[in-house]
Amino acid sequence: MSTVFVSRDSAALACGADAVAAAFVAAGVKVVRTSSRGMMWLEPLVEVEVNGVRHGHGPVAAGEVTDLLAAGLLAGQGPKAIGPVEAHPFLAKQERLIFARAGITDPLSLEQYEAHGGLAGLRAAIADQAGIVGTVTDSGLRGRGGAGFPTGIKWKTVADCPPGQKYIVANADEGDSGTFADRMVMEGDPFCLIEGMVIAGIAVGAEKGFVYLRSEYPHAIEVMNAACAIARDKGLLGDVLGSGHRFDMEIRVGAGAYVCGEETALLESLEGKRGVVRAKPPLPAHKGFMGRPTIVNNVVTLASVPWIMANGAQAYADIGFGRSRGTMPIQIAGNVARGGLFEAGFGLTLGEIVDEIAGGTVTGRPVKAVQVGGPLGAYLARSQFDTPFDYEAFGAQDALIGHAGVVVFDDTADMAHMARFAMEFCAIESCGKCTPCRIGSTRGFETLDKIMAGVNVDANIDLLTDLCETMKFGSLCALGGFTPYPVMSALTHFPEDFRRAAPMAAE
Ligand SMILES: Cc1cc2nc3c(=O)[nH]c(=O)nc-3n(C[C@H](O)[C@H](O)[C@H](O)COP(=O)(O)O)c2cc1C
Ligand code: SF4
Repeated sequence: MSTVFVSRDSAALACGADAVAAAFVAAGVKVVRTSSRGMMWLEPLVEVEVNGVRHGHGPVAAGEVTDLLAAGLLAGQGPKAIGPVEAHPFLAKQERLIFARAGITDPLSLEQYEAHGGLAGLRAAIADQAGIVGTVTDSGLRGRGGAGFPTGIKWKTVADCPPGQKYIVANADEGDSGTFADRMVMEGDPFCLIEGMVIAGIAVGAEKGFVYLRSEYPHAIEVMNAACAIARDKGLLGDVLGSGHRFDMEIRVGAGAYVCGEETALLESLEGKRGVVRAKPPLPAHKGFMGRPTIVNNVVTLASVPWIMANGAQAYADIGFGRSRGTMPIQIAGNVARGGLFEAGFGLTLGEIVDEIAGGTVTGRPVKAVQVGGPLGAYLARSQFDTPFDYEAFGAQDALIGHAGVVVFDDTADMAHMARFAMEFCAIESCGKCTPCRIGSTRGFETLDKIMAGVNVDANIDLLTDLCETMKFGSLCALGGFTPYPVMSALTHFPEDFRRAAPMAAE
């Protein structure tokens, strides 16, 4: 019987992958469900094996299946054919370490995971427990959740704490706009996250882990729970591969607040309390979950570790740009011709990402602004398109990489409205603990309302600028501290958008 491969990733499901799969079954074709390749504009992508090579067709609608089969889909032919999938320029230009198995394996097959390189890192870690932290440090891996903090230093801090109950927490809250890399790891390659967490546990002497997973990811919750059960059954969790090291983990579902992605608010929530930010120190590495030493790492950070352990620190450190080592899964979204996940070494310029990889806007209009790093990230203008994708280079532009979400806007975007949105988002999501954020964000969008109405524009822009300085330097965490980035970047690069209304007298 002929076989086609159809993704079960949420993005593919949202585009009708289940109906497409059902149409193939009805036509007598066997369907194997995989994860996504990350070429979202081609979903539902249907793959077939021709002479041992996967050929693709996409995007396929359920109603087209009969005609596409008649046109030679199973031989890689037809109107939706894109040729050999891995030769597609979007994939061929990538360097996939974390997403090496994406779209290829059955996410819940531990056998396939192992056959495609999985567990090699864990075996290396078990063989050299004392060397794990050093390897992670030497690789140059930095946290992919936003702050870019060196992972090895965090792990060493927890490893150096006296023995006793310690925890590994995977931050899977993934609240940044335009981001989906964590979700793709969890839905598409859950054993990779589990392996990374087990390695972290062995490295620092922690026997218990949690994945703090946002409730808006029902498929990821389902896959992670199923993967943990399989891992327990097959000896990956428990007595880890019979090594004598113990590690188990559970999935905890967050109720859905942006601030619960902040590590200390996350820990409060994990302890069953309201998600309010804790003052630091103490660091979670010293006093985290239930007051015990805790590693909180982003999903992509943890999922990077198996490759590092399997291939060595140097191989990882050889990839990248400046102090940003290894690969980053760039998530391209918004008004783009080709949205999706592009894993590559740091160093691509923003222009290459937006113009070449994403293919510009889907509307065909000029790109006006690009927001990188989620709702707290700066808006970058075309004049900044030479900036390399690198923590320090973005920092020098008063911008941030964050979790590497890239959201593109065409020239119809009104940047004053986007600045107002940033302040309003902060007001809604603020945990309320500190005044600059709690009060400042509300005063911020009120001031922007006046500017947009043409009321005392110069004076109100001065006031807004002063308020942004106060929030930036006076806020307890990066929610209040970084909201000024989108606001001030919009004001700096698109000043004309703040002077559209006819001037009005003072209130
Ligand atoms: C408001 C706010 C939201 C955050 N949301 C997330 C998130 O959704 N996922 C994440 O990994 N880190 C998030 N972070 C960063 C975390 O506080 C923390 O730095 C990160 O989980 C550490 O892991 P890493 O070192 O692997 O990046 C957020 C920070 C702030 C201030
Ligand atoms: S900056 Fe905002 S979210 Fe962060 S602690 Fe202060 S009030 Fe809470």
